[in-house]
Amino acid sequence: MTSTVETPEFPMPRAAGCPFDPPPAARALQEQAPLARVRLWDGSTPWLVTRYAEQRALLADPRVSADITRPGYPSPAPLPKGGTGISFILMDNPEHARLRKMVTAPFTIRRVAAMRPAVQEIVDDLIDELLAGPKPVDLVEAFALPVPSLVICELLGVPYADHDFFQENSKVIIRRDAKPEERAAGHQALVGYLDRLMGEKLAAPADDLLSGLAVRVHAGELTRTEAAQMGVLLLIAGHETTANMIALGTLALLEHPDQLARLRDTDDPALVASAVEELLRYLNITHNGRRRVAIEDIEIAGQTIRAGEGLILANDIANRDPAVFPDGDSLDLGRDAHRHVAFGFGVHQCLGQPLARLELQVVYRTLYRRIPTLALATDLEKVPFKHDGSVYGVYELPVTW
Ligand code: HEM
Repeated sequence: MTSTVETPEFPMPRAAGCPFDPPPAARALQEQAPLARVRLWDGSTPWLVTRYAEQRALLADPRVSADITRPGYPSPAPLPKGGTGISFILMDNPEHARLRKMVTAPFTIRRVAAMRPAVQEIVDDLIDELLAGPKPVDLVEAFALPVPSLVICELLGVPYADHDFFQENSKVIIRRDAKPEERAAGHQALVGYLDRLMGEKLAAPADDLLSGLAVRVHAGELTRTEAAQMGVLLLIAGHETTANMIALGTLALLEHPDQLARLRDTDDPALVASAVEELLRYLNITHNGRRRVAIEDIEIAGQTIRAGEGLILANDIANRDPAVFPDGDSLDLGRDAHRHVAFGFGVHQCLGQPLARLELQVVYRTLYRRIPTLALATDLEKVPFKHDGSVYGVYELPVTW
C-alpha cells in the first residue's frame, strides 16, 4: 500500500475560478494512469478509477458491489447507526433488481413522453410567475427547485404543499459535511413521512406511483418499510439532481453566451436534445464518483484490485476523457455527447434519466426564449457553489432580465 505522503486526499478541490471543471489533481491522475490510490476522510485508500473505459468495464462487472454495508465500501461520510436505508441504489442483485423492477414502468421513455405537456405547463406557469414578480430573483428558489419538485410530486402522488419539509430534509441527507446523526434524522423524518403517505394510499389508492407500491404492499410483494424507503429514494433523486442541472446549466450557459444563443435561437429539437446531453457531460453534477467495492479479485489495466478494496469511479473526469471526448473541456452543444456517464453505467444506471432529459429539454428550450435577456445579477465569484454536497450545483443564482 502507498504511504500517506504520496496518496492524495479525495475528494479534491476544484481550481479557483473554474467552477465547471473537475479538480485539476484528479485530471493529473487520469493522465498518469487509469487507476490510482486516494485517501478518504477515514484514512482508507480505495482506488480512484480515472478513465472512461475502465469505469464502464467495472460498473458493468458483477464482481463489483454497490452495497454500502460491505467492509471496504468507500463511504463518502460516516454511516449513520442503523444504516442509510436509501433503498435499491445501495443494493446488489437480486434484491436490487427485485425492487427496481417494481418502479421501472412509470420511467419508460413512452410513459415519460406522455408527461411532456404537463411538464411544459409547469415550466410556463413558473416563468409567468417569474416575469410578474420582482427582480433580481433567486432562480434556484423560484424556478430550478420547483420544476422537478412539482413533476416528481405529481408522478409519485406526494402533496407539493409539503415541499419545504422534504426539500429541507433532502438537503441534509446529501450534504457531505452533515453529521451522521443529522443525516439519520433527516432520513428518518422522510421515511416516516412516506410511511404515513403509504398508509393513506393503502386506504384509498389513486393513480400515482406510490399507490402502485401500496397495491404491492397489500399483495405481500413488498414490505411497507421497503415501499417507504423506495419513495424516499425517488423523491430525493427526482428533484435534487434535476434542480441542480437547471441552475448550474443556466449559469454555464450565461458564461458561454455563444452557446446560449445557439440554444435560444434553434427550432431543431435534435439540437435541444444534444445540448442537454452535452450539459450533462460537461457539468456532471454527481461529482463525487460512483462508489463500489470489489467482492472478488479483479485484473484490470495491469492492476489487481483485491476483493474487499473500495472503488471510486470518477464519472466527472471520465466525461472529459480525451480518448472519448476530444476537446472535452469546451462546451459544445452540437457535440454528440450521448455516451457520457453522467447517469452512471451498468445495473444502477439512472432510473429517472428519461424524466430528467424531458424536464431539461423543456426547461432549456423554454426559459431562454421567454426571457432572452436573462442575466446573472451578481459576479461569478460571488455565486455560492455546492462544493460540500454529493450533488454539485449552486445554492443560489441571483438573476435579472
Ligand atoms: C439530471 C438529473 C439526474 C442525474 C445527473 C442523475 C444521476 C444518477 C446517477 C449517476 C445514478 C447512478 C448511481 C450509481 O451508479 O451509484 C443515478 C441513479 C438513480 N437515479 Fe438518477 N439522476 C438524475 C435524475 C433522476 C430523476 C429525475 C430520478 C427520478 C426519480 C432519478 C432516479 C434515480 C434512481 C432511482 C437511481 C438508482 C438506480 C439503481 O440503483 O438502479 N434520477 N442517477
